[in-house]
Amino acid sequence: MTTAQMQQEIIRLKQEKDICILAHAYQSHDIWEVADFIGDSFGLCKQAAASTAKTVLMCGVRFMAETAKILCPDKRVLLSHPEAGCPMAEQMDKDMILAMKAKFPGVPVVAYINTTAELKTVCDLCVTSSSAVGLVRSLDSDRIIFIPDCNLGAFVQSQVPEKQLELFHGGCPTHARITAAEAEHAKSVHPAALMLVHPECQPGVTAQADFVGSTTEIMAFAKKSDAEEFIIGTENSIVQHLQIECPEKRFYALSKHLVCENMKLTTLGDVYHCVLGDGGEEIALDAETMRLARRCIDNMLK
Ligand code: 13P
Ligand code: SF4
Repeated sequence: MTTAQMQQEIIRLKQEKDICILAHAYQSHDIWEVADFIGDSFGLCKQAAASTAKTVLMCGVRFMAETAKILCPDKRVLLSHPEAGCPMAEQMDKDMILAMKAKFPGVPVVAYINTTAELKTVCDLCVTSSSAVGLVRSLDSDRIIFIPDCNLGAFVQSQVPEKQLELFHGGCPTHARITAAEAEHAKSVHPAALMLVHPECQPGVTAQADFVGSTTEIMAFAKKSDAEEFIIGTENSIVQHLQIECPEKRFYALSKHLVCENMKLTTLGDVYHCVLGDGGEEIALDAETMRLARRCIDNMLK
């Protein structure tokens, strides 16, 4: 079977079986071409909530499929690859959050969406990289516990200096491994390029950026900009997607190390087997976990 034949089969089967395919932007381009919606974490939440299909297939990582299940408890939700987790989502456990709550009584806990469903049950509000600044700014409290990404937390703190954020030493291993020296080097190699960076990167990297935003915001910025060259400081799949969408512009990876092994696990073949009915993992969460975790997600979507 060729790639195009496999894609045609996926499209035929998803229509026949009423399956909605949601793909995070870090998925490969052959998966983008069969997806019903591609987006960042916030966009995927909104699409999962709006989907009318019987089955939602999440091509991404586990916390995204869990979020879709929480938002659509009556649907069948499949994760494209059972081993596609997110190391950041699993860095804390409930006891650690309860200990922070005990240390800062009455202080709201804001959880990055990249957390497990279990963690969300003891948090107050979810945010994504595109909604974090606005939502933290809008909270009544002057003090906020922000988990688990201290780089995103530091970026939010820089944008909302009137609040005090209590941060945890967690983060995305893919984005956090990029150093300020690599950013300097990329700028020296491509002096005419604008540098667009994800807020999961270290402060020494975001400080050098021309734009800081979520995956979708980075793509929108690059497409709209009059500039001709861009250094992309997020998962390297975005370099290829942008190059395909804007062939007249040039896109460079900030670092060859910006690769998320978990996002890379899902192949077009996995998607094919998911729609055939013999692949992926059906997400199962108990009703109480879904009820408690949903408060946090609903507070964000409101
Ligand atoms: P966004 O999709 O919100 O940009 O987050 C990036 C990410 O690392 C997802 O796992
Ligand atoms: Fe998790 Fe980072 Fe991979 Fe996103 S890029 S799934 S935050 S490890």
